[in-house]
Amino acid sequence: MNRAYSIAEEYEIIREKNKNELEYRKSLLYSDIPRLKEIDEELVKLSIDITRAILGKPEDSSVLVKELQSRQLDLKIEKAEILTSNNYPKDYLNMKYQCKTCKDTGFIDNEKCKCYVQKEINHLYVQSNLGKILGKENFDQFMWEYYSDETMDDNISPRENMKLIYSKCVNFVKDFDDHNTNLMFIGKPGLGKTFLCNSIAKDLLDYGKSVIYKTSSDLIDIVRKYKFDFENEENNEQYLNDIYSCDLLIIDDLGTELSTQFSNLVLYSILNKRAQNNKKMIISTNLDIDEFTKIYSDRITSRIFGCFDTLEFLGEDIRLKMHKLI
Ligand SMILES: Nc1ncnc2c1ncn2[C@@H]1O[C@H](COP(=O)(O)OP(=O)(O)OP(=O)(O)O)[C@@H](O)[C@H]1O
Ligand SMILES: [Mg+2]
Ligand SMILES: [Zn+2]
Repeated sequence: MNRAYSIAEEYEIIREKNKNELEYRKSLLYSDIPRLKEIDEELVKLSIDITRAILGKPEDSSVLVKELQSRQLDLKIEKAEILTSNNYPKDYLNMKYQCKTCKDTGFIDNEKCKCYVQKEINHLYVQSNLGKILGKENFDQFMWEYYSDETMDDNISPRENMKLIYSKCVNFVKDFDDHNTNLMFIGKPGLGKTFLCNSIAKDLLDYGKSVIYKTSSDLIDIVRKYKFDFENEENNEQYLNDIYSCDLLIIDDLGTELSTQFSNLVLYSILNKRAQNNKKMIISTNLDIDEFTKIYSDRITSRIFGCFDTLEFLGEDIRLKMHKLI
């Protein structure tokens, strides 16, 4: 993986930044209100004295420690009063953390903090280049004009059809924690399947859910690397775990991968593992049901059509409409 920075390095950079910002705030205030500098210096000295007293003679240190602590409290109060009376928040000279839970270390008692897990996912995102596209393809940017309101043979106009699909997608996000639905987007090219995958991904990411978006060929590649690339074993294993356990896995363009026994096996194991983990998926494909059954084994087909809510996209290729070709 060519990460610009490893996650550990990212935390180091954040901590360095926190430190520099604090130093900056201090330098501004100290020259304005010199008493603050004195207080801070005395506080540092006090905390050293307290530690020394505790470590030195534990038996008879308790009176001294109490004394020092009460002095410490007085100083903290004085400091807070000076700050507030000068219109600064009273924690203005404390270290500011992006994540208060782990104080930007990424870990709590050797367990990954929530922010660390989110960073892992973000790294996957950077890799999938989804970052940029989410600004353009999201529910707010959805245009209805591309879907004709003329009824076709199906007795429903593409727009009516899209209204149903759209509301299913919105509800998929809204009730995300309360349902067990998987969605299957079926339809010809250029009808907005990827657009809606991205819209869902964006909203869920904003809610702090872990989402991975991959085309099926990228997905097969990741697993192939895991199985056969032993140089990067640890990273690849992490990747695979995320694929099995992230909150939502989106597999776009299913059917465009080179279909082999291996790819079938991979797909089946992903479907299975995620079902076992009770994790949701969205799959999009150009294949119709007949084509689908030709490419994929019965067990995959039955899993998908049994466990997914199939939504068929109707209309005319938006790519052509955008370029005014139709
Ligand atoms: N509802 C929409 N509003 C605005 N733009 C849209 C909408 N739906 C799709 N588009 C745009 O139309 C183009 C094609 O859409 P999209 O990529 O989602 O099609 P698709 O169904 O995934 O096609 P394919 O099967 O070829 O992958 C994209 O540029 C997309 O941004
Ligand atoms: Mg697509
Ligand atoms: Zn954290």
